[in-house]
Amino acid sequence: MKRIAFHDREKEIKEIRAILDAEPSLITFVYGPINSGKTTLIRYLIEQLPEEYTIFYINLRTKFLSSYDDFIESLFEMEMETDGAKRKRKETLAELVSSATKVVAGIPINKEFLDYVFKDNKPKNAFSYIIKLFEEVKATGKQPVLILDELQKIGDVNVNGSLIYELFNFFIDLTKELHLCHVFAVSSDSLFIEQVYSEAMLQGRSRHLLVDDFNEVATMDFLDRYNFSDKEKTVAWEYCGGNPIYLVELVNCEYREEKVKEMLVLRTGEINQRIKVLKIVNKKILFEDEEIELKYENITRILDEFSDEESYAYEMITPEIAYLVRENILFVDSVRRIIKPQSRLNLLAIREVMKNA
Ligand SMILES: Nc1ncnc2c1ncn2[C@@H]1O[C@H](COP(=O)(O)OP(=O)(O)OP(=O)(O)O)[C@@H](O)[C@H]1O
Ligand SMILES: [Mg+2]
Repeated sequence: MKRIAFHDREKEIKEIRAILDAEPSLITFVYGPINSGKTTLIRYLIEQLPEEYTIFYINLRTKFLSSYDDFIESLFEMEMETDGAKRKRKETLAELVSSATKVVAGIPINKEFLDYVFKDNKPKNAFSYIIKLFEEVKATGKQPVLILDELQKIGDVNVNGSLIYELFNFFIDLTKELHLCHVFAVSSDSLFIEQVYSEAMLQGRSRHLLVDDFNEVATMDFLDRYNFSDKEKTVAWEYCGGNPIYLVELVNCEYREEKVKEMLVLRTGEINQRIKVLKIVNKKILFEDEEIELKYENITRILDEFSDEESYAYEMITPEIAYLVRENILFVDSVRRIIKPQSRLNLLAIREVMKNA
């Protein structure tokens, strides 16, 4: 298997570096279709950053979040008990900060502070602890950066609907009010981003950065790196566009033309199943707190838009669009107000499905 080096993203890196060079003032939402390379970009950037930054990178993907306590726990990394090794336990914030490396996978905490954080079941305690810790980081001459990847997962947490509100208030505090810490929230859930985008409390307090599939030039450069023939490059671009995960799959594959065709057949079958099933079952989705029945004809009407277009401008998200987004078939770009398939392969698969709809 070939090792794939990090590719391109110069524009996005420049943009994020400019944000990091300035005083923290807005929350940055990083969004894009699934598998477009958001996490890879963030991880690469973190590696490149100088030691003057302390980065708290928390990926919620791997966390099990079913309650408020789970969420709070997911933010923190308990200091290891080192009594056995006869090392002094870290008792103060300064001691906890001194043990932090450039990148940490959770906010450092010890048992005593953790008790305080969980006291009264209120996010306020956790947030005030984090602010104190970040102030301590700043006092050592470093700039804290908080990155929450897969942020939409907090949507699963049930705490009277107010957790997200309190979390955003906390982010606003860290950025616009205190200028203490850079905050990046990463998500590929475009319905979540759409919801967040129209959130009144975030107006003028956040910015959105799109990480999309590679453009044609970047894709061709990538394929050149791995010695694709001209024919293979044409086929790869035609079927996969600039979707990094598919391109990586092709790099590692011997019969590339057969492979892309196989990928299309597979995706067409999957989409076909998700759509045609609506002919035989009455499927409902929860939309704006109401159960709405999905109509096959309404779904195909949306998909038909892609028979000769690659994207289109939308006025509002309908239950059918929401269904297609949740099934990872379509992607909503709420900043540009357009809808498009999640990737080139999805576009082609939709067209195949629509031929027999
Ligand atoms: N800039 C890049 N250079 C090389 N390979 C990349 C790059 N970006 C992404 N990839 C490849 O594509 C795969 C998917 O990328 P990644 O997981 O970062 O996407 P994502 O947008 O975070 O996905 P998700 O929507 O699931 O969060 C990676 O495992 C990597 O192999
Ligand atoms: Mg990711």
